[in-house]
Amino acid sequence: MSLDNATQKPHDRLGAWLAADMQAVNTLIRTRMASEHAPRIPEVTAHLVEAGGKRLRPMLTLAAARLCGYEGPYHVHLAATVEFIHTATLLHDDVVDESKQRRGRPTANLLWDNKSSVLVGDYLFARSFQLMTETGNMRVLSILSNASAVIAEGEVLQLTAAQDLATDEKIYLQVVRGKTAALFSAATEVGGVIAGAPEDQVRALFDYGDALGIAFQIVDDLLDYGGTTAAIGKNTGDDFRERKLTLPVIKAVAKADSDERAFWVRTIEKGKQVDGDFEQAQAIMARHGAMEEARQDALGWAAKARTALTALPDHPLRQMLDELAGYVVERIS
Ligand code: IPE
Ligand code: IPE
Ligand code: MG
Ligand code: MG
Repeated sequence: MSLDNATQKPHDRLGAWLAADMQAVNTLIRTRMASEHAPRIPEVTAHLVEAGGKRLRPMLTLAAARLCGYEGPYHVHLAATVEFIHTATLLHDDVVDESKQRRGRPTANLLWDNKSSVLVGDYLFARSFQLMTETGNMRVLSILSNASAVIAEGEVLQLTAAQDLATDEKIYLQVVRGKTAALFSAATEVGGVIAGAPEDQVRALFDYGDALGIAFQIVDDLLDYGGTTAAIGKNTGDDFRERKLTLPVIKAVAKADSDERAFWVRTIEKGKQVDGDFEQAQAIMARHGAMEEARQDALGWAAKARTALTALPDHPLRQMLDELAGYVVERIS
């Protein structure tokens, strides 16, 4: 946090503004990720949690609560809950995606095994439920438990849409709204709810999180083709190998000539991939401007997120959330 205000990323500015709250969140996360009875649990959770991560979702909860005038203490519990749900989904997701790198480290499924990742993920989910009940607020319980179900639905829908070249942008949107945006929108919404904000503001916070989450996932999907492993801390090419119909692929498939169509049928539908196919996929997408088009779509969602913020009180945090919407599209990590 040594950079001055003008050169800091919006994400770091938020972190600096919320530093005391974030410290409380990190302390709570560390306390609750432990287990007295099964040493494998703290091993796995520490591996993932100590690697950092952007902590974007807990920051959204804290920012939403503070922006709506909340003085605490339960925004901290809710922020930790949201990060626990996120971490649990990452453990499960890396098993499902057979990923080997996360947050710049080997994945838990690689270092330990799939069984440990699934079970420790379950443990973190359960811990997240314990944490949220401590708030005693039925509405936040409803929002977060609902989001947990929607995330799982999104992941399962993606599973059945993978390898299917008929997957269109409508289905893609359903998948990303579920697997990613549901937690972003729950994160912002519960911040408003715990603060007792008026309904129009709670709605605006939901809309902001929803649109931000969609923009965020579109960019995550772009980085899987156009990013670098060093910057994203994950291996590029995972989505192609897993034969996922992400937005740039859907756009390229829609414009494919017969040779390109045959390429997509072989690599995505039949899963017969050979060396050089990933680069070939990148070249085809570039030919049709598929990456640029998907980036434009992400910008559109970021603009929607910004519009939603206009219903919220004038506050330095509102400005930071506004800038964050731009940052999620520009980001390279
Ligand atoms: C990764 O989320 C999962 C997606 C929804 C793409 P983040 O990129 O926020 O992960 P961390 O927490 O910073 O590692
Ligand atoms: C992440 O989806 C969404 C969840 C973890 C629920 P991805 O599979 O696209 O994310 P990364 O690229 O592995 O982080
Ligand atoms: Mg994944
Ligand atoms: Mg996945």
